[in-house]
Amino acid sequence: MPSERGEDIYDPAFVKDVFDRCSGQYIAFSYVCSMGFTERWRRQCVAALRPEGRPMVAGYDLMAGTGEVWPHLLKAFPAIETITAVDISSGMHQRALDRLHRHRKHRIDFIEDDVLASELPDESADFVVATFGLKTFNDAQHKALARLIARVLKPGGVFSLIEASDPEGWWLRPVYNFHLRGFLPLVERTLLRGAQDFAMIGRYTANFRNARGFSDLLRDEGLDAEYRDYFFGCASGVSGSKPL
Ligand SMILES: C[S@@+](CC[C@H](N)C(=O)[O-])C[C@H]1O[C@@H](n2cnc3c(N)ncnc32)[C@H](O)[C@@H]1O
Repeated sequence: MPSERGEDIYDPAFVKDVFDRCSGQYIAFSYVCSMGFTERWRRQCVAALRPEGRPMVAGYDLMAGTGEVWPHLLKAFPAIETITAVDISSGMHQRALDRLHRHRKHRIDFIEDDVLASELPDESADFVVATFGLKTFNDAQHKALARLIARVLKPGGVFSLIEASDPEGWWLRPVYNFHLRGFLPLVERTLLRGAQDFAMIGRYTANFRNARGFSDLLRDEGLDAEYRDYFFGCASGVSGSKPL
């Protein structure tokens, strides 16, 4: 799918540029524009991890961005020793370590890479999480991501992913559409002096729709996966485990 200038908006280099450019304002923007819901959804995404007594020592936060899910993860599972954050945008990660996570730096490893090109070891993770990192992938990339998650999880390992979604068929849909197509571009024009990047995030979200298709891809890879709606479908996710 082309951008206004004809670039492929799912090309990892294009995505990296978008996030490198908006990393400075991302934390405030995502909080304000979701009216605080992103924080609640990150917490619910972590709550959907059900290790059933199995160890939670090391795992991955894919498309980790500014690492806002880490406080929720470390609070819910204090035995976690290492979260390996994978993100293509070092701008997002650097800001995260400088501002938000100085005191938990020793429990965070970082891999700066396109997650789909990364060589994460087989069966190396007790858990995999991803919050708001699904939308910048197309169908083929979602398939590759599902394969990667199935490969890196240990047997019995757990996963949970969440993404902002289109609340199809619900009274909130006009509000949601106004939010993406009216409100976000307005905030950008007035507060962010015309940078195109936050409207781009709205466009990825509109294209993504919901996590149903991604849930099927995880099942195709042999994982036990349960689709979940959050707040009437304004976010959706999938969680489950790798069979023993
Ligand atoms: C909307 S942000 C989400 C950040 C964070 N997880 C959160 O909860 O706010 C999406 C992140 O995915 C990263 N990303 C996009 N495509 C990627 C890829 N192919 N490989 C690794 N990271 C990617 C971006 O750099 C960005 O930091």
